[in-house]
Amino acid sequence: MSIVKNLITPAATVIAVFILLLFLVNKESHSADPNQFNRLMAPPSKRNPPPTEDGIHDGPGASMLQTPKSAFGTLPKSKSGNYIDWVKALDEKKIQPRYDRNDPEVQPIVMDLNIVHEVKGSMPNVVYPHKQHTEWLDCSNCHPAIFVPQKGANNITMASILLGEKCGVCHGKVAFPVSECRRCHSQKKKQSAGAKAAAK
Ligand code: HEC
Ligand code: HEC
Ligand code: HEC
Repeated sequence: MSIVKNLITPAATVIAVFILLLFLVNKESHSADPNQFNRLMAPPSKRNPPPTEDGIHDGPGASMLQTPKSAFGTLPKSKSGNYIDWVKALDEKKIQPRYDRNDPEVQPIVMDLNIVHEVKGSMPNVVYPHKQHTEWLDCSNCHPAIFVPQKGANNITMASILLGEKCGVCHGKVAFPVSECRRCHSQKKKQSAGAKAAAK
């Protein structure tokens, strides 16, 4: 009995804290600060407003920009953030962003290297994919300022991500939000002997 209690209590606490944090973060998203954490988690009526109302663009040029509603029409959908699956959009060549602002010929140096972080408790392991990141980003966007380029050297935790550090420098701001647990926690765990015995 006490074994079960010992397992359940920490997991329940972690989940309760996340729900609370997500709630607080969501509530705060009504102010106009464009860099604020998780501003992408807006209620339906506030999603993807036109440039003149999004709090990011200003000046007379804003009204000349295409609105997200018309620009996003044919792109593959996702469940949150700005409701577009940008990885799929790039894969399917629905968008072809310029890698270098000044030179249309420059191509990204894509690196296909997954880093798996084993997670304690019941959440699936985290798979960090270099490929999907280096299709848009330069190594120097992350190394060494956000992550030392060495597996396991960065002490990444969910708390730091929710505070906008580590993965949270981008996720919840310019990339899909932290609420999409399974996109990061995507690797099923190999059942340990202990877990198998407990399941019997
Ligand atoms: C979006 C952020 C990001 C970008 C961009 C990025 N990396 Fe990484 N890189 C990581 C993370 C996260 C890790 C894992 C760190 C950890 O485990 O603590 C990592 C780990 C590494 C490692 C260590 C691998 C190992 O097994 O120890 C190397 C080498 C590396 N990156 C090279 C690169 C190179 C070269 C590029 C550009 C082509 C690049 N990275 C782009 C985030 C990034
Ligand atoms: C420098 C910015 C940046 C950092 C830091 C970063 N990401 Fe990303 N990540 C992106 C962008 C941009 C995308 C693609 C756009 C999107 O999916 O919203 C992406 C996409 C992903 C995907 C989607 C892959 C797919 O196939 O759909 C995963 C998984 C992911 N990131 C995990 C992580 C994890 C785990 C970390 C921390 C170890 C991390 N990212 C740190 C910017 C970042
Ligand atoms: C952007 C990627 C990303 C998303 C989204 C994400 N996680 Fe994580 N999570 C991580 C990383 C990276 C770690 C640290 C893994 C390690 O120990 O190195 C982690 C660790 C954890 C841990 C272990 C304890 C801790 O704090 O380190 C738990 C539990 C967890 N996540 C739950 C969740 C839940 C629940 C969600 C959805 C609300 C979620 N995660 C969404 C990347 C993510």
